[in-house]
Amino acid sequence: MSKTIYILNGPNLNLLGKRQPEIYGHDTLDDVETTCATVGKDVALSVKLMQSNHEGEIVEMIHDARENAAGIIINPAAYTHTSVAILDALHTFDGPVLEVHISNVHKREAFRHHSYVSQRADGVIAGFGVEGYALAMRRMGTLLA
Ligand code: DQA
Repeated sequence: MSKTIYILNGPNLNLLGKRQPEIYGHDTLDDVETTCATVGKDVALSVKLMQSNHEGEIVEMIHDARENAAGIIINPAAYTHTSVAILDALHTFDGPVLEVHISNVHKREAFRHHSYVSQRADGVIAGFGVEGYALAMRRMGTLLA
């Protein structure tokens, strides 16, 4: 049976495709899930994509991953820059954690330059558009091979 990767997404990413498309593009989160599932077939990984606008729910998803996922790909969105709770939850997870940002956060406002999650992430991808999720899946394939 293939290992499962959780792809966790933070606030406002439910509006991906509609929200500031000049920054985040036109693809939706459903498109991201389809692409990641396709890449997953290549690298023998299954995917479960989830999104929440609530910090505590993301913490619960990470707790769930402790039992049910081999790795986590996470775009914590705005919580990247604020959430010690999400960082602490990720520290309870033993498998690989890859952080994805659709936009190049380093080219944007100064408050987006710091990430709490990066202190736990095994790798960070930023500025590759939604392709970053597919790249993270490939990397997961390598890390979990
Ligand atoms: C984001 C970047 C964050 O700064 C922002 O709050 C988001 C999305 C990205 O994917 O580029 O919501 O994580």
